[in-house]
Amino acid sequence: MAANTNGTVEQVPVLIVGGSLVGLTLAALLAKYGIKCMVIEKHSSTAIHPRATLMMPRTMQVFKELGLYEIMKEESLKYYDKKTCIITIESLAGKLLHKWLEDVNEGIERVSATRRVFLTQQALEPLLRAKAKELGAQLRFSTEMVSLTQDSDSVTATLKNRDTNITSTIRSSYLIAADGFRSTTRSLLGIPTQGPGLLSRALTIYFEILDKDRLATLANAHYSGVVYVSNPAVRCFFRFDRDKKESFLVINSAGKQGSEASRFPADTASMESAEGYLRAAIGDEEVKFKIHQLTTWEAIADVPVRLREGRCLLAGDAAHRMPPSGGFGGNTGVQDAHNLAWKLAYVLKGQAGPSLPETYEEERYPIAKHTVENALAHYVHRTEPSLSHLVDEYDVKESPVEHLEMAYRYHSKALFTNGPLNASNITEDPATSVAAPGSVAHHVLVDTADGRKNVAISEFFGDGFVLFVGSNGGPWINAARKLEGTFRTVQLVFDDDKVFARRYSVLQDGAVLVRPDGFVAWSCRSIVREKVQDAQKLLEEVRKRVLCL
Ligand SMILES: Cc1cc2nc3c(=O)[nH]c(=O)nc-3n(C[C@H](O)[C@H](O)[C@H](O)COP(=O)(O)OP(=O)(O)OC[C@H]3O[C@@H](n4cnc5c(N)ncnc54)[C@H](O)[C@@H]3O)c2cc1C
Ligand SMILES: *[C@@H]1O[C@H](CO)[C@@H](O)[C@H](O)[C@H]1NC(C)=O
Ligand SMILES: *[C@@H]1O[C@H](CO)[C@@H](O)[C@H](O)[C@H]1NC(C)=O
Ligand SMILES: *[C@@H]1O[C@H](CO)[C@@H](O)[C@H](O)[C@H]1NC(C)=O
Repeated sequence: MAANTNGTVEQVPVLIVGGSLVGLTLAALLAKYGIKCMVIEKHSSTAIHPRATLMMPRTMQVFKELGLYEIMKEESLKYYDKKTCIITIESLAGKLLHKWLEDVNEGIERVSATRRVFLTQQALEPLLRAKAKELGAQLRFSTEMVSLTQDSDSVTATLKNRDTNITSTIRSSYLIAADGFRSTTRSLLGIPTQGPGLLSRALTIYFEILDKDRLATLANAHYSGVVYVSNPAVRCFFRFDRDKKESFLVINSAGKQGSEASRFPADTASMESAEGYLRAAIGDEEVKFKIHQLTTWEAIADVPVRLREGRCLLAGDAAHRMPPSGGFGGNTGVQDAHNLAWKLAYVLKGQAGPSLPETYEEERYPIAKHTVENALAHYVHRTEPSLSHLVDEYDVKESPVEHLEMAYRYHSKALFTNGPLNASNITEDPATSVAAPGSVAHHVLVDTADGRKNVAISEFFGDGFVLFVGSNGGPWINAARKLEGTFRTVQLVFDDDKVFARRYSVLQDGAVLVRPDGFVAWSCRSIVREKVQDAQKLLEEVRKRVLCL
């Protein structure tokens, strides 16, 4: 084994390859659980392009648990209006064709304690980086992972410092690939991907509008958020900040729609072609603009055939590639990190069995695949109808956006149910769903026995397992006490016909166990009605199951 210059092999419990949105989120979450981890990032700093900007409610819940929610909302208001939209237009000067979401937060408080927030990766990553560091994660930039080997106990990775070319070796219990779209780790592990594949070789145009007065005369110039454009010349989307200063335009398809060449605007990209596309999307000859930069990238829809190889796990874009339509890519990656963080923490602290991390793949793989398929469907509807045969070919089941964002269901051996789990229900309606094992513990306001009123239930998540009980919950409280603090209990005050009892299917002598990631792990409607003989024995069985002991 290659050793470091001083002959030692460094050790760290978790090595995270890739220090962007997903790697930094995972590092901060692990560090919050007190797990030592190291992030290596081949670039010298965090993101230089805006990319992911629409942060969904469950993503914001994760950032709330990290103490970043308020500052993100504040930062967002520097660039975006409170009211942001997702629409399709003919051009800025042309007709409004469709409103997907007129105000991204309309009605959101019914189903979530957190809001949708627009904030670019450029603005967010420094916050995540500082948080991860503050909580104790080690961050190493300009450092690339170049090879890896693993055995049943550990992973050994070779790192190269890109400034000095010096290589070093590091050994970890787990290696998490958060190394993006072209994941080096995925290639080194030889994990192939499958799915519809390449949709477009796309061009992103970063620009600034120079005469705001002229712009203001155009019919659709006042919108901020995601503005799709569809006309004979271009199929594309603007991401508009309030001042149209840090805006960009993504061209996915140009020229005669349906032709092969139309899907590859990157191949013929030049300043001249970019000016033409931008002009066609604006739809007015007079508006002056300045193009700052062009970048090209591929819109791909596929998933690796597995998310795990031994002690290496894939997360983020390394674990699912999807077109940006709908803004699911980064959000799905943050949820990967949230699912993984507590599982690794519990195993590394000796509180869970070694097979718990296997449930990461069991739970996240169907969600990754379903989300990729839905992003493909959005892409076909919003940008490229000529690819609609792919939606049929892959038998895509479309979920309403809110269901996909907020109420996807997990199925795994770490959930405790009486009957078998129906794996064909991938999403449900967050406004009406009943909290069954594997469901998101959905948003309700609760009153606690110690006198707090109207607290969002999610306020209790993110810090271990929580056992919610009613006013006749004494046996559960006593039973939980004997389990050495594995389950923190919270006693609630509710009426049997009121919202908590109904949506969580419990009576005064029932109990609901919520995991650290805010999913229901187990529930019992009532000790009496379900004829529970020994609450402590049952809770012990539940603990064994949900922690894979
Ligand atoms: C135009 C556009 C708009 C988008 N809009 C949205 C949106 O609104 N909402 C949304 O959720 N998503 C959006 N996305 C998708 C989103 O940007 C990605 O899903 C997200 O960046 C994935 O994060 P990640 O951390 O998994 O990967 P990345 O951000 O790609 O980061 C991977 C990191 O790993 C590093 N790395 C790679 N290999 C190595 C190695 N061998 N050693 C060390 N480091 C390595 C890379 O340098 C990189 O920093 C958009 C994408 C595009 C292109
Ligand atoms: C590192 O290696 C690259 C490619 O081999 C080389 O171009 C560069 O000069 C080297 N840098 C240093 C600091 O040695
Ligand atoms: C699964 O879907 C079926 C049909 O839509 C529904 O009747 C059932 O209640 C769902 N199950 C869960 C656990 O959501
Ligand atoms: C599972 O749910 C699907 C649809 O949601 C339904 O068609 C099917 O009958 C259900 N299967 C079982 C065993 O309940």
